Amino acid sequence: MIVKYNAKISGTGRYLPEKILTNKDLEKIVDTSDEWIVTRTGMKERRIAADDQAASDLAYEASLQAIQSSPIRSKDIDMIICATISADHAFPSTACIVQQKLGLKNFPAFDISAGCTGWVYAANIAKQYIENGAAENILVIGVETLSKITNYEDRNTCVLFGDGAGATIISRAEAKDISQLIDADISADGTHNELLIQRAGGSRMPASQKTVKENLHTVQMEGNKIFKLAVKSMYQACHTVLKRNHMDVQSIDWLITHQANMRIIQALGNKLKIDEKKVIVNIEKYANTSAATIPIALDEAIRNNKIRHGDIVLLASFGAGLTSGSLLFRL
Ligand code: ACO
Repeated sequence: MIVKYNAKISGTGRYLPEKILTNKDLEKIVDTSDEWIVTRTGMKERRIAADDQAASDLAYEASLQAIQSSPIRSKDIDMIICATISADHAFPSTACIVQQKLGLKNFPAFDISAGCTGWVYAANIAKQYIENGAAENILVIGVETLSKITNYEDRNTCVLFGDGAGATIISRAEAKDISQLIDADISADGTHNELLIQRAGGSRMPASQKTVKENLHTVQMEGNKIFKLAVKSMYQACHTVLKRNHMDVQSIDWLITHQANMRIIQALGNKLKIDEKKVIVNIEKYANTSAATIPIALDEAIRNNKIRHGDIVLLASFGAGLTSGSLLFRL
């Protein structure tokens, strides 16, 4: 592809539902303990969407913040890409519902499914559209309401997930801009597609009384197999973009990885040999919000004045599929 323009992040926002579910609360629901969850995952609490809150409601709030923080107005948006595995409906897309909520129409709006790597995939797609001149301001959302598809009788999964939304505006950069999406790398290894799965509700296993009774509409996961693949695939994705851009880990001001498990974040940090002060972590507050972890952490770090204009940031993620990816940018 001939790159005509550069892309940059011009705004960020986030929304977390009010309800907090602590590890102590979970002790009353399943056979677990605060000590086990903190030691094995680093998580202390997570946010849970209200009964009447769907993915698009969370995404809309995060999008408003992202637009407010950017120099653009909502009418300047010319594409919406929403990454989610817990959409309002199987169809229409959550992106189309957000478009309607924002009072916009007549431009492309679509969802993508790449598990927890969803936002990194979506940002990479947005980058291509901006670089080839086909769009100027793309709203890129990562949103999940995983609590709605979690089995609260399964201690292997229910302690891990939370709800939330992160939104980002990816815009065409001016020639004089130092801000730029430098490079991205996305990949998938479908041989592991059964390790993290919502079995029922699609064409393979349509919804029936049996699927509901057997809890097949909720997340099923083989956690420790994913653990090993997570570190390997994120390391590979980081290595690829750094090497391609003749950079090393010393050039990075901040690393944000998918917030799935504190031990995975630490293992990746150790493998990359990055100073742990440069690694942004908020897993203790929000747990794993899948496609939303990275845009939420990014927005939080920018608003807390950690990540500043001109800083070099490396993002890395992995998720259902199994998918993986990285994004390297200067804010
Ligand atoms: N409380 C208490 N004990 C538990 C709990 C719990 N909540 N969950 C599991 N255990 C028990 C298990 O039953 C097992 O007991 P046993 O030895 O008697 O059989 C023991 O703890 C150890 O289980 P493991 O699965 O080996 O524990 P592990 O150290 O691997 O931690 C975990 C499990 C936290 C799931 C970890 O493997 C992990 O984080 N994996 C990655 C998962 C992940 O990233 N998923 C998201 C992917 S992203 C996306 O697309 C949504």
